[in-house]
Amino acid sequence: MQKRKTVLDIQRMKAEGEKIAMLTAYDYPFARLMDMEGIDMVLVGDSVGPVVAGYDHTLPVTMEEMIYHCRAVSRGLGQAFLVADMPFLSYQVDLREARLNAGRLVKEGGAQAVKLEGGENVADVVKTLADMDIPVVGHIGLTPQSIHRMGGYKVQGKQDQQARQLLCDARAVQDAGAFAIVLEGIPAGLAGQITAALDIPTIGIGAGVACDGQVLVIHDILGLCEKYSPKFVKRYADAASLIRQGIKGYIDEVKQGEFPGPEHSFS
Ligand code: KIV
Repeated sequence: MQKRKTVLDIQRMKAEGEKIAMLTAYDYPFARLMDMEGIDMVLVGDSVGPVVAGYDHTLPVTMEEMIYHCRAVSRGLGQAFLVADMPFLSYQVDLREARLNAGRLVKEGGAQAVKLEGGENVADVVKTLADMDIPVVGHIGLTPQSIHRMGGYKVQGKQDQQARQLLCDARAVQDAGAFAIVLEGIPAGLAGQITAALDIPTIGIGAGVACDGQVLVIHDILGLCEKYSPKFVKRYADAASLIRQGIKGYIDEVKQGEFPGPEHSFS
């Protein structure tokens, strides 16, 4: 029987210089396929809001939605390590709620770790979750839950002061007990400095190649998000064309009375 990766495997990968490959997943079939291809870590991101539910941003995503998607993804994994995002308002109000919500993602969703956005300002949350033995992944830089503060999805840490703050944030998250950290939308040089300064693995998205690993949204790398493609995304397939071709083929055959043929009918 296959064995699921653990925090120890992820830490070992950093120690041995093996790059960590992480993707988002929101359902069973995608989770199963990426697991079979050997993905190391799977993230049930709150990007499920914009990517799957059609919301404008991640803020409306609820705990119930995260748990539903997490359970589906969890059932599709045989070897990969599963991380679930803590959605907006599930950890900012007080530590008790944060513990309860993180616990639900593990207990009901099957997550092996939770991810939350913020630096020094959430160090107490990271600590309280780590203290209850829930592995935590930090997330700093372009943090989508802060869209209204940032005034849009903009690269963070370009000015010296901002860069110094991000370094402090990364250290604070590590010192509070996080076992890994996502660096999103920051200059590649700064991501390299943070990676060198930390003992825990850094996983980059729009943060250059020096990070210990990379994460992207599955729909982006497959070309399924036709309306929006940020600079840091590389498309590895054009799944949208393939899907549209299949749907069109079906519609045409139904319209022309060619489907179902005898081989798809019961006598
Ligand atoms: O929600 C998400 O998908 C994320 C990323 C890091 C891709 O947080």
